[in-house]
Amino acid sequence: MTFRGLGLLGHALAGTLLAAGHPTTVWNRSTGKGADLIGRGARWAGSAGEAVAASAVVMVCVTDDNAVRELVQPLSAELRAARSST
Ligand SMILES: NC(=O)c1ccc[n+]([C@@H]2O[C@H](COP(=O)([O-])OP(=O)(O)OC[C@H]3O[C@@H](n4cnc5c(N)ncnc54)[C@H](OP(=O)(O)O)[C@@H]3O)[C@@H](O)[C@H]2O)c1
Repeated sequence: MTFRGLGLLGHALAGTLLAAGHPTTVWNRSTGKGADLIGRGARWAGSAGEAVAASAVVMVCVTDDNAVRELVQPLSAELRAARSST
């Protein structure tokens, strides 16, 4: 699973998946927040394309609707491509 947004919620969810042994990819606007998760085996998604390519499910855990739109709209081409390949 991929997490975009590693605040309190996203960090806790990503950490729980990692602890359970699931492959986990992460991204956060402020890069320092994912460092401990990377140290525990998470992979960093450097771009929207990497985030979508890494996992069938992308969880967006950010502050509000506007922040979600900012993150999801640039993903639309990648999501369409991923959907048409399944
Ligand atoms: N915490 C909970 O127990 C809980 C429970 C249920 C629901 N929720 C909901 O889950 C959502 C996230 O909550 P949270 O507690 O994780 O919040 P938080 O700790 O304040 O973290 C906010 C996250 O949103 C990111 N963000 C904000 N604006 C952004 C933007 N324009 N572009 C990219 N990233 C942006 C922040 O990135 P930076 O680190 O770069 O600032 C940070 O990763 C909220 O809607 C909240 O209501 C939270």
